[in-house]
Amino acid sequence: MHPALIYDMIGLSGRTAPFVQQAFLRSRAPLSGGTMNFARYAIMRMRKKKNLIPRMERCAHVLAGDGASLRGNWRSLLRDSCALHVELGCGKGRFTAETARLHPDVLFIAVERVPDAMVIAMERVCALGLENVRFLSCDAARLPELFAEGEIDRIYINFCDPWPTKRHAKRRLTHKNFLKLYRTVLKERGEIHFKTDNAPLFAFSVEEFPTAGFSLSEVTDDLHANGPTGVMTDYEAKFYELGTPIHRCVATMEPWTEPEEPPEWEHAPVQDRGAEPPEPSAQ
Ligand SMILES: C[S@@+](CC[C@H](N)C(=O)[O-])C[C@H]1O[C@@H](n2cnc3c(N)ncnc32)[C@H](O)[C@@H]1O
Repeated sequence: MHPALIYDMIGLSGRTAPFVQQAFLRSRAPLSGGTMNFARYAIMRMRKKKNLIPRMERCAHVLAGDGASLRGNWRSLLRDSCALHVELGCGKGRFTAETARLHPDVLFIAVERVPDAMVIAMERVCALGLENVRFLSCDAARLPELFAEGEIDRIYINFCDPWPTKRHAKRRLTHKNFLKLYRTVLKERGEIHFKTDNAPLFAFSVEEFPTAGFSLSEVTDDLHANGPTGVMTDYEAKFYELGTPIHRCVATMEPWTEPEEPPEWEHAPVQDRGAEPPEPSAQ
Protein backbone atom coordinates (compact mmCIF):
# COMPACT_ATOMS: atom_id res chain seq x y z
CA MET A 1 0.00 0.00 0.00
CA HIS A 2 1.29 3.45 -0.87
CA PRO A 3 2.34 5.47 2.22
CA ALA A 4 0.07 8.34 1.13
CA LEU A 5 -2.95 6.09 1.58
CA ILE A 6 -1.84 5.24 5.09
CA TYR A 7 -1.43 8.95 5.88
CA ASP A 8 -5.02 9.44 4.78
CA MET A 9 -6.25 6.58 6.93
CA ILE A 10 -4.59 7.85 10.07
CA GLY A 11 -5.74 11.39 9.50
CA LEU A 12 -2.53 12.99 8.27
CA SER A 13 -3.85 14.43 5.07
CA GLY A 14 -4.42 17.75 3.37
CA ARG A 15 -1.60 20.22 3.83
CA THR A 16 0.51 18.18 6.22
CA ALA A 17 0.72 14.85 4.42
CA PRO A 18 2.95 15.85 1.48
CA PHE A 19 5.49 17.35 3.88
CA VAL A 20 5.40 14.38 6.20
CA GLN A 21 5.59 12.04 3.24
CA GLN A 22 8.59 13.93 1.90
CA ALA A 23 10.12 13.81 5.37
CA PHE A 24 9.50 10.10 5.54
CA LEU A 25 11.17 9.51 2.18
CA ARG A 26 14.15 11.62 3.23
CA SER A 27 14.32 9.81 6.53
CA ARG A 28 15.29 6.70 4.57
CA ALA A 29 18.45 8.56 3.52
CA PRO A 30 20.57 10.46 6.05
CA LEU A 31 19.38 14.07 6.36
CA SER A 32 21.93 16.51 5.07
CA GLY A 33 22.54 19.85 6.79
CA GLY A 34 20.55 22.97 6.03
CA THR A 35 18.11 25.01 7.95
CA MET A 36 15.18 23.64 9.87
CA ASN A 37 12.37 23.21 7.40
CA PHE A 38 8.91 21.76 7.70
CA ALA A 39 10.08 18.30 6.69
CA ARG A 40 12.59 18.21 9.54
CA TYR A 41 9.98 19.58 11.88
CA ALA A 42 7.64 16.81 10.75
CA ILE A 43 10.30 14.19 11.43
CA MET A 44 10.84 15.61 14.90
CA ARG A 45 7.09 15.53 15.51
CA MET A 46 7.06 11.94 14.29
CA ARG A 47 9.92 10.84 16.51
CA LYS A 48 7.41 9.63 19.06
CA LYS A 49 5.89 7.50 16.30
CA LYS A 50 9.13 5.86 15.33
CA ASN A 51 8.73 3.97 12.06
CA LEU A 52 4.96 4.29 12.35
CA ILE A 53 4.31 4.44 8.62
CA PRO A 54 6.63 1.57 7.56
CA ARG A 55 5.21 -0.52 10.40
CA MET A 56 1.68 0.21 9.21
CA GLU A 57 2.70 -0.53 5.63
CA ARG A 58 3.82 -3.99 6.69
CA CYS A 59 0.35 -4.68 8.15
CA ALA A 60 -1.61 -2.73 5.53
CA HIS A 61 -3.81 -5.72 4.66
CA VAL A 62 -5.57 -5.43 8.07
CA LEU A 63 -6.30 -1.69 7.66
CA ALA A 64 -9.88 -1.10 6.57
CA GLY A 65 -9.13 1.98 4.47
CA ASP A 66 -11.54 4.85 4.96
CA GLY A 67 -14.23 2.34 5.94
CA ALA A 68 -17.02 4.34 4.31
CA SER A 69 -16.84 2.29 1.10
CA LEU A 70 -17.62 -0.85 3.13
CA ARG A 71 -20.67 0.68 4.83
CA GLY A 72 -23.46 -1.90 4.70
CA ASN A 73 -21.11 -4.45 3.19
CA TRP A 74 -18.55 -5.25 5.91
CA ARG A 75 -19.40 -8.94 6.04
CA SER A 76 -18.15 -9.37 2.48
CA LEU A 77 -14.66 -9.31 4.05
CA LEU A 78 -15.29 -12.67 5.69
CA ARG A 79 -18.60 -14.40 5.00
CA ASP A 80 -22.11 -13.00 4.43
CA SER A 81 -23.59 -14.90 7.34
CA CYS A 82 -20.90 -14.05 9.90
CA ALA A 83 -21.45 -12.01 13.06
CA LEU A 84 -19.95 -8.53 13.09
CA HIS A 85 -18.37 -7.28 16.32
CA VAL A 86 -16.85 -3.82 16.77
CA GLU A 87 -14.40 -2.85 19.51
CA LEU A 88 -14.14 0.84 20.41
CA GLY A 89 -10.72 2.04 21.59
CA CYS A 90 -8.84 -1.22 21.06
CA GLY A 91 -5.54 0.27 22.29
CA LYS A 92 -2.65 -2.16 21.83
CA GLY A 93 -5.04 -4.95 20.90
CA ARG A 94 -4.46 -7.81 23.35
CA PHE A 95 -8.25 -8.30 23.62
CA THR A 96 -8.81 -7.84 19.87
CA ALA A 97 -6.23 -10.41 18.82
CA GLU A 98 -7.11 -13.03 21.43
CA THR A 99 -10.90 -12.74 20.98
CA ALA A 100 -10.57 -12.91 17.18
CA ARG A 101 -8.29 -15.94 17.47
CA LEU A 102 -10.90 -17.73 19.60
CA HIS A 103 -13.75 -16.84 17.20
CA PRO A 104 -12.54 -17.22 13.61
CA ASP A 105 -16.16 -17.16 12.39
CA VAL A 106 -16.74 -13.60 13.70
CA LEU A 107 -15.57 -10.49 11.85
CA PHE A 108 -13.94 -8.02 14.25
CA ILE A 109 -13.54 -4.35 13.47
CA ALA A 110 -11.22 -2.59 15.90
CA VAL A 111 -11.61 1.19 16.12
CA GLU A 112 -8.80 3.29 17.61
CA ARG A 113 -8.06 6.98 17.28
CA VAL A 114 -4.38 6.84 18.33
CA PRO A 115 -2.29 5.32 15.50
CA ASP A 116 0.73 4.68 17.79
CA ALA A 117 -1.36 2.29 19.88
CA MET A 118 -3.21 0.83 16.91
CA VAL A 119 -0.06 -0.18 15.07
CA ILE A 120 0.87 -2.48 17.96
CA ALA A 121 -2.58 -4.08 17.78
CA MET A 122 -2.19 -4.49 14.02
CA GLU A 123 1.18 -6.18 14.47
CA ARG A 124 -0.30 -8.59 17.01
CA VAL A 125 -3.08 -9.56 14.61
CA CYS A 126 -0.63 -9.99 11.73
CA ALA A 127 1.75 -12.10 13.85
CA LEU A 128 -1.13 -14.49 14.55
CA GLY A 129 -2.10 -14.59 10.87
CA LEU A 130 -5.73 -13.71 11.69
CA GLU A 131 -7.98 -13.07 8.71
CA ASN A 132 -11.09 -11.95 10.61
CA VAL A 133 -9.87 -8.57 11.93
CA ARG A 134 -9.74 -5.12 10.33
CA PHE A 135 -8.67 -1.82 11.88
CA LEU A 136 -10.26 1.59 11.53
CA SER A 137 -8.15 4.57 12.50
CA CYS A 138 -10.84 7.01 13.59
CA ASP A 139 -13.02 8.33 16.38
CA ALA A 140 -15.93 6.24 17.65
CA ALA A 141 -18.22 9.18 16.93
CA ARG A 142 -17.90 8.35 13.22
CA LEU A 143 -19.65 4.96 13.51
CA PRO A 144 -22.84 6.02 11.67
CA GLU A 145 -20.78 7.15 8.66
CA LEU A 146 -19.03 3.79 8.54
CA PHE A 147 -21.74 1.25 9.35
CA ALA A 148 -25.26 0.89 8.04
CA GLU A 149 -28.33 0.81 10.25
CA GLY A 150 -28.51 -2.48 12.19
CA GLU A 151 -25.26 -3.78 10.67
CA ILE A 152 -23.39 -4.49 13.94
CA ASP A 153 -24.20 -7.43 16.25
CA ARG A 154 -22.05 -6.44 19.20
CA ILE A 155 -19.95 -3.53 20.43
CA TYR A 156 -17.13 -3.93 22.96
CA ILE A 157 -16.14 -0.96 25.12
CA ASN A 158 -13.19 -1.92 27.29
CA PHE A 159 -11.58 0.46 29.79
CA CYS A 160 -12.60 3.60 27.96
CA ASP A 161 -11.28 6.94 29.20
CA PRO A 162 -13.36 7.89 32.29
CA TRP A 163 -13.43 11.68 31.73
CA PRO A 164 -14.09 12.22 35.46
CA THR A 165 -15.25 15.84 35.40
CA LYS A 166 -18.89 16.74 34.74
CA ARG A 167 -17.71 19.21 32.10
CA HIS A 168 -16.29 16.35 30.02
CA ALA A 169 -19.01 13.77 30.71
CA LYS A 170 -20.20 13.92 27.09
CA ARG A 171 -16.88 12.44 25.97
CA ARG A 172 -17.47 9.20 27.88
CA LEU A 173 -18.14 6.39 25.41
CA THR A 174 -21.12 5.37 27.57
CA HIS A 175 -22.69 8.84 27.61
CA LYS A 176 -26.28 8.89 26.36
CA ASN A 177 -25.26 10.78 23.20
CA PHE A 178 -22.87 7.96 22.26
CA LEU A 179 -25.47 5.31 23.22
CA LYS A 180 -28.00 6.94 20.87
CA LEU A 181 -25.39 6.90 18.14
CA TYR A 182 -24.72 3.16 18.73
CA ARG A 183 -28.46 2.56 18.39
CA THR A 184 -28.23 3.64 14.75
CA VAL A 185 -25.71 0.91 13.85
CA LEU A 186 -26.58 -1.97 16.22
CA LYS A 187 -29.14 -4.56 15.26
CA GLU A 188 -32.22 -4.90 17.46
CA ARG A 189 -31.25 -6.78 20.63
CA GLY A 190 -27.63 -6.19 19.70
CA GLU A 191 -25.30 -5.96 22.68
CA ILE A 192 -22.72 -3.67 24.21
CA HIS A 193 -20.17 -5.49 26.36
CA PHE A 194 -18.66 -3.00 28.77
CA LYS A 195 -15.72 -3.43 31.19
CA THR A 196 -13.93 -0.90 33.36
CA ASP A 197 -11.81 -0.64 36.50
CA ASN A 198 -13.36 2.78 37.24
CA ALA A 199 -16.17 2.51 39.82
CA PRO A 200 -17.64 6.03 39.28
CA LEU A 201 -17.66 5.51 35.49
CA PHE A 202 -19.37 2.15 35.96
CA ALA A 203 -22.00 3.66 38.30
CA PHE A 204 -22.62 6.41 35.73
CA SER A 205 -22.87 3.90 32.87
CA VAL A 206 -25.34 1.48 34.49
CA GLU A 207 -27.65 4.48 35.02
CA GLU A 208 -27.04 5.81 31.52
CA PHE A 209 -27.72 2.59 29.53
CA PRO A 210 -31.45 2.34 30.47
CA THR A 211 -31.99 6.03 29.63
CA ALA A 212 -31.17 5.15 26.01
CA GLY A 213 -33.30 1.99 25.85
CA PHE A 214 -30.77 -0.68 26.84
CA SER A 215 -31.54 -3.41 29.39
CA LEU A 216 -28.73 -4.70 31.59
CA SER A 217 -27.54 -8.20 32.40
CA GLU A 218 -24.37 -9.88 33.73
CA VAL A 219 -23.72 -6.88 35.96
CA THR A 220 -20.77 -7.47 38.28
CA ASP A 221 -18.46 -5.32 40.38
CA ASP A 222 -15.78 -7.99 40.58
CA LEU A 223 -15.51 -9.96 37.37
CA HIS A 224 -12.49 -11.99 38.44
CA ALA A 225 -13.62 -12.69 42.01
CA ASN A 226 -13.40 -16.44 41.36
CA GLY A 227 -10.31 -16.35 39.15
CA PRO A 228 -9.56 -14.91 35.70
CA THR A 229 -12.69 -14.82 33.53
CA GLY A 230 -12.82 -14.25 29.78
CA VAL A 231 -10.23 -12.59 27.58
CA MET A 232 -8.37 -9.76 29.32
CA THR A 233 -7.40 -6.49 27.68
CA ASP A 234 -3.95 -4.92 28.16
CA TYR A 235 -5.28 -2.53 30.81
CA GLU A 236 -7.29 -5.25 32.49
CA ALA A 237 -4.28 -7.54 32.85
CA LYS A 238 -2.41 -4.72 34.63
CA PHE A 239 -5.31 -3.96 36.96
CA TYR A 240 -5.80 -7.65 37.67
CA GLU A 241 -2.14 -7.90 38.74
CA LEU A 242 -2.73 -4.98 41.11
CA GLY A 243 -5.84 -6.63 42.57
CA THR A 244 -8.15 -3.84 41.30
CA PRO A 245 -11.72 -5.18 40.88
CA ILE A 246 -13.09 -5.10 37.34
CA HIS A 247 -16.69 -4.03 36.67
CA ARG A 248 -18.58 -5.54 33.76
CA CYS A 249 -22.06 -5.53 32.27
CA VAL A 250 -23.87 -6.40 29.07
CA ALA A 251 -26.36 -3.84 27.71
CA THR A 252 -28.96 -5.14 25.23
CA MET A 253 -30.66 -2.79 22.81
CA GLU A 254 -34.43 -2.92 23.27
CA PRO A 255 -37.08 -1.33 21.05
CA TRP A 256 -37.23 2.31 22.21
CA THR A 257 -38.58 5.68 21.27
CA GLU A 258 -36.79 8.65 22.67
CA PRO A 259 -39.08 10.47 25.12
CA GLU A 260 -39.86 14.01 24.12
CA GLU A 261 -37.91 16.65 26.00
CA PRO A 262 -40.16 18.37 28.56
CA PRO A 263 -41.05 21.92 27.45
CA GLU A 264 -38.58 24.65 28.47
CA TRP A 265 -40.86 26.12 31.13
CA GLU A 266 -40.81 22.87 33.14
CA HIS A 267 -37.06 23.28 33.75
CA ALA A 268 -37.52 26.72 35.31
CA PRO A 269 -38.01 27.07 39.09
CA VAL A 270 -41.73 27.16 39.94
CA GLN A 271 -41.71 30.88 40.87
CA ASP A 272 -40.20 31.76 37.45
CA ARG A 273 -42.56 29.75 35.32
CA GLY A 274 -45.27 32.33 34.94
CA ALA A 275 -48.52 31.13 33.54
CA GLU A 276 -48.62 27.49 32.47
CA PRO A 277 -49.39 26.94 28.80
CA PRO A 278 -53.10 26.78 28.12
CA GLU A 279 -54.80 23.41 27.71
CA PRO A 280 -55.23 22.55 24.05
CA SER A 281 -58.76 23.57 23.11
CA ALA A 282 -61.18 20.79 22.25
CA GLN A 283 -62.07 20.74 18.55
C1 LIG B 1 -7.60 3.42 28.46
S1 LIG B 1 -7.26 2.86 26.85
C2 LIG B 1 -7.83 1.18 26.86
C3 LIG B 1 -7.29 0.38 25.71
C4 LIG B 1 -7.83 -1.06 25.62
N1 LIG B 1 -9.25 -1.09 25.36
C5 LIG B 1 -7.50 -1.82 26.86
O1 LIG B 1 -8.42 -2.07 27.65
O2 LIG B 1 -6.34 -2.15 27.06
C6 LIG B 1 -8.54 3.68 25.93
C7 LIG B 1 -8.30 3.64 24.44
O3 LIG B 1 -9.43 4.14 23.78
C8 LIG B 1 -9.03 5.04 22.75
N2 LIG B 1 -10.14 5.98 22.58
C9 LIG B 1 -10.62 6.84 23.51
N3 LIG B 1 -11.65 7.55 23.03
C10 LIG B 1 -11.84 7.11 21.76
C11 LIG B 1 -12.75 7.46 20.73
N4 LIG B 1 -13.68 8.42 20.92
N5 LIG B 1 -12.67 6.82 19.55
C12 LIG B 1 -11.73 5.87 19.34
N6 LIG B 1 -10.82 5.50 20.28
C13 LIG B 1 -10.88 6.10 21.47
C14 LIG B 1 -7.77 5.67 23.28
O4 LIG B 1 -6.97 6.19 22.27
C15 LIG B 1 -7.12 4.50 24.01
O5 LIG B 1 -6.29 3.75 23.16
